This record gives sequence, C-alpha cells and structure tokens, in this order.
Amino acid sequence: MKMENELIKVKLKDIKIGMCLGNHVVDNFGKQILSAGNYLTSKRQIEMLYDMAIKEVYIDYRKSLVSSQSPKEIVKREAEVKKEFENTDKILSNLKSALPQMRILLADANKIVELMMNQVRGGKSFDKESMIKNVLELKEKTKHNPQAMFSLINLKKNENFVFKHSIHVTALALTLGAILNLDASLIQAIGIGSVLHDIGKAKLPFSIVHKTGSYTKQEYDIMTTHTVIGEKICLQNKITNKVIVDIVKHHHECYDGTGYPSRLSKNQIDKYISIVSICDYYEGITSPRTYKKTLAPSQAISKIFHTSNIRFDRRLVSYFIKMIGIYPVGSFVRLNSGRVGIVLGFSHKLLLNPILKILLNSNGSVSRKKEIIILNEVDDFIVEIATEFKNIFKLEDIL
Ligand SMILES: [Fe+2]
Ligand SMILES: [Fe+2]
Repeated sequence: MKMENELIKVKLKDIKIGMCLGNHVVDNFGKQILSAGNYLTSKRQIEMLYDMAIKEVYIDYRKSLVSSQSPKEIVKREAEVKKEFENTDKILSNLKSALPQMRILLADANKIVELMMNQVRGGKSFDKESMIKNVLELKEKTKHNPQAMFSLINLKKNENFVFKHSIHVTALALTLGAILNLDASLIQAIGIGSVLHDIGKAKLPFSIVHKTGSYTKQEYDIMTTHTVIGEKICLQNKITNKVIVDIVKHHHECYDGTGYPSRLSKNQIDKYISIVSICDYYEGITSPRTYKKTLAPSQAISKIFHTSNIRFDRRLVSYFIKMIGIYPVGSFVRLNSGRVGIVLGFSHKLLLNPILKILLNSNGSVSRKKEIIILNEVDDFIVEIATEFKNIFKLEDIL
C-alpha cells in the first residue's frame, strides 16, 4: 500500500465491499467509470474492475465502512437487507402519507419563526408559547417518520420558506438527540435552542445577513456577533435555560478550537451544542447559496466525514451519518446500468443498501414500470450522484 495525501493505493485483490473510493476510476480510454467518494457496494462492481484490467485504486480509509466480502457473508447480508425491507410498499406509503402533514408543519413553523424575527427586530419580546408548541409538534411528527421530514429537508422543495434554515436544523437536531438517547427534556431544550440559534441575525443589517457574495473581513466580524447578540436576546426574553442559551451562543464553536465566539474546544463544547452545530452545518452547505456551490446531501455527508475531529467530534459525526445515511433519502443516483434512481429509504444497519425508485431507464427514457429496487451487493451499484435531476422530479409525483 502506498500513501498519497490521505488516500491509500490498494491492490484490487485487497479491495472490499464498504471501501470508499478516494479518486475517480477511469478506464483505458480515459472514461470515468466510478466517482471519488462513492462506495464499493457490490461484488459485481469489483468484478467489473477486474474485467477492465484495473490493478489498483485509491481508497479513502477514513470514510470506508469495510465489511467482509466472503460469499457466505454476502448471502447473509443479502438476507438481512431483504428482511429489513420486507415491506417496501409500506415504507413508501408511510412516506407518501406523512408528506402533506410535514409540509403543513413546516409552513406553520415558518410563520412562527417569521413573526418571532420581526418581533425581535422591532425590539419587542417574542411569543415563546407558540414557538415551544411548534417545537413539540415537530418533535412528535419527526419522531414517527424522520425519513419523510429528511426527504423534504434534503430536496429543499419548500423553497418559499424564508426561515426554513432554523426549522430544518431543529428537525435534524431533535432526531439526532433522540438517536443519542438523550432525556426528553434535554431534547426539547435542544429543539428550542435550534429554532433560536440564529436569532441574533435579526439585529444585524439586512445587507450583511442576505449578502450574496463572500464577506469582507469587517462584514464577517459583524456576522459572527449574531451568537452573542442571540444570547442577549434570550436573556432579555427571560430564557435562561443553560442548554438553550449555550446553543445560541456557541453553535459556531469548533472541535479544534478555531470557532467563535469563545474558541471552545473538544470537551469544553457540550454535546447538545455540537448536535446543533453539525445539523446547522449540514443544512447550510446543502442549501442554495448564491456565492458557494450547494452540495448534494451525499456530498455534504462526505464533507462532514472530513471534518471529523476538526470541526466536529468523530463520534458525533458517525451518529449523524447513521441518521442521515451515506446516500440520504432524496438523493438522485446513477447506477452502473445507466439507470437513474432516487433514494427513498435505508436502514441504519445497512447504510450501503438503500431502497431506490428507478426514474430513468438506461437509455435515458422515463421509466414507467414503477420499479423499486433494494441496492444489494450482487447486482446494481451506484456510480455517481446525479444532482442534475433535483429540479426535474417532484417527490410527490415519484411516490
Ligand atoms: Fe449561526
Ligand atoms: Fe444557522
């Protein structure tokens, strides 16, 4: 094995399912056949590399989820995948029926946050009761069908909601808190802290908060003050719960101590703060931004992987990825056959085997077969993320 940057060159005989490609794989004609950042998910994929006389590939070990590749293990895993998704129809009908309710909930939350921001901007105290009620409702509904909520968050189809950022962060943070088995009252405080995390921005000049280009040093410094301004707003509104105030003040601290406003590091940053920070970061980089490239959910996951023990604690990163998935719900993916599908579900135990609905046939025509497949380790595999389809297909039409 030969090290090159953080990637390791691995001979084909040592390749295993679950490894993550560090570089693109190209054939003898220079055509890209697999993209960097994708996982080796099937035996067939590895056989294809042999057929193409590829001798070695670069592997990103930090991202790899190496699993056994023995035939016995593959059969066992196949059975596990089938069992997990015994009833794909039920998964899809649950997703479909939950979506309208989720949309209403998000719209209500948007109104509440909008009102709250206006009240703060006008120097008034804000309506805490309806905000808390909304957080509780978000907590309940998201708990029952997190994947439905995440599909809306990932597809960003609720574009018209100006305040969707804090609402999305709240839904993600509530779920992460539940996955980490935190106490119900702590989860509730995390939810309230998430809704309020950027409240300080209400007091900053509109031209800076909504600037479409990158910030000057002076603008950046002003922007960072939203954390301490937010803390002040909480206290003025008699919100003194430590968890909530800490989240508002410290959600931009980094694991390595390079964040702001207090340059806290490692275990100086409480878990509840980091939960909101990671959800805030994911939401931010997957949202349309005029001055930076918007990342597809799976690209964002890849970026977050690389922040392990820099921006976020490695353990928290692994929990976050278990929650969102490696190919999150709502990801458009291109398969080896040329077909394009959308991820509609996955099991937390089997992140490499999502359920897909096929949208396009290998010749590019729209699939009319309503075909649902579970990515197994024998047949189909993901070649690349197909972000270009994000604005073409509507989730409700797909289900
Ligand atoms: Fe912030
Ligand atoms: Fe934020």
